[in-house]
Amino acid sequence: MDFSEAKGILGDEFSRDADFLSSVVSKLKLVKNSKVLDVGTGRGHMAILLALHGYQVITGEPEGVNWGDWKTPAKKVNIEDMITFKPFNAEKMPFEDISFDAIFLYATFHHIGNKKLALNEFLRVMKPKGILIIIELTDEGVEVVRKRWKGHPDAVDPRAYTKDLVFEVKIIESKYLNAYIYSRIINE
Ligand SMILES: C[S@@+](CC[C@H](N)C(=O)[O-])C[C@H]1O[C@@H](n2cnc3c(N)ncnc32)[C@H](O)[C@@H]1O
Repeated sequence: MDFSEAKGILGDEFSRDADFLSSVVSKLKLVKNSKVLDVGTGRGHMAILLALHGYQVITGEPEGVNWGDWKTPAKKVNIEDMITFKPFNAEKMPFEDISFDAIFLYATFHHIGNKKLALNEFLRVMKPKGILIIIELTDEGVEVVRKRWKGHPDAVDPRAYTKDLVFEVKIIESKYLNAYIYSRIINE
């Protein structure tokens, strides 16, 4: 289904960040059918958007956690077959080494307890030329979310946890969200 048609069907909550997320995903130029991991399913916005872009999506959040219904919206836009849900904790993931072309976290990184452990896991399961995309709220984004959810944690700049990695990081900024795009520096 076309992205703008899906936005019309899924409504405001999906559409709020969808244009920014979609523009980030488009800039990455991943090949069709790339295998991508979406960490922190939530209401499925990121997983659905990745599936609409034509990627095979594995998504999950810790066992027993149910942050929201992702299946109903996925069915509404006919892409549930592109999404596989598997419960997992980012700090210790049930995936083989070198499995994914790209790993996405949208509004998830600040919720993870041990961020260093999770980062080690992302690097383990990522292919050598794979990319890690951490999309985090800005301080202004947090202010907006706190109008609905008072105790929402502060925004986190992932670079505070990645200083020792031999990775290049590119940042795409917007008012409410920043995307941090990590790729390995490979000397060929
Ligand atoms: C705000 S929601 C993310 C929104 C979601 N990415 C979307 O597209 O709708 C935060 C998510 O992080 C997940 N989460 C928190 N700690 C986690 C962990 N250690 N491992 C995996 N997911 C985690 C929560 O279960 C929740 O699904």
